[in-house]
Amino acid sequence: MTTTEPTPTLIVDEETISAYRKDGVTTIRNVISPEEAARFRDAAIAVSGIASDYAGSSAIFNQYVNVWQQNDVLRELTLHPNVAAAATALAGVPVRVWHDHLLIKPPHNGAATEFHQDAPYWPHAGSRQSLSAWIALVDVPVERGCMTFIPGSHHHQGLRAQDLADRDDLFRVAPDLRWEQRLTIPLRAGDCTFHNAYLAHSATPNLTDDPRIAHVTIYIDADTTYTGGGHVVSDGLGLTPGQPFAHESFPKVG
Ligand code: SIN
Ligand code: NI
Repeated sequence: MTTTEPTPTLIVDEETISAYRKDGVTTIRNVISPEEAARFRDAAIAVSGIASDYAGSSAIFNQYVNVWQQNDVLRELTLHPNVAAAATALAGVPVRVWHDHLLIKPPHNGAATEFHQDAPYWPHAGSRQSLSAWIALVDVPVERGCMTFIPGSHHHQGLRAQDLADRDDLFRVAPDLRWEQRLTIPLRAGDCTFHNAYLAHSATPNLTDDPRIAHVTIYIDADTTYTGGGHVVSDGLGLTPGQPFAHESFPKVG
């Protein structure tokens, strides 16, 4: 008789959760196995060959949005129960998927992702715990487009959106952050960082001969309401301003 082993559930310990709440970022090594990462990397490369690049001609990265709706293998990653369970534990509230994206920095792309917060880009109200799971699908040393965070900066709220292409823009709206310590986190394929949507972060340019391939799932508080503002993943869905994102494009997970 053959039996199927259930996937072990990832438990995030209390120490990790309280450090995440204080810093706004944490690392979970091997959130997926190296074998899974290789399978998802191959799917990411295939999708990047056919999907449209939302970042257009930007040198910063190529951006493929909502790949879970386009590719069954990547859907497994975006809806991965272990990643969603970790996101829910860290957020401390029920969450739903806002969107995913592949962020690929081509070899020698020559451009950093400059410091910014994510939340100001989104048409959300009441989304205090929203967070991203940034999963490395290839090894990402500092030289390949590695993420850097300013721990504690998620307490800055109400800032306007900051320009990803302008090294000084975040520091124009929050000058004190220029003097805070930064945390740079190299990742092996299958490792993940989670960061709060208000946490200031950046990524180095890719100086290497290989692409930097990351898959990011963004989770929002399940009760987040729609402001009515424009965004590529919510435009045209008929959402009602002031109401939650109760739509199949934004599944509850975790
Ligand atoms: C990057 O991967 O280059 C940036 C990711 C982010 O801004 O969340
Ligand atoms: Ni970001």
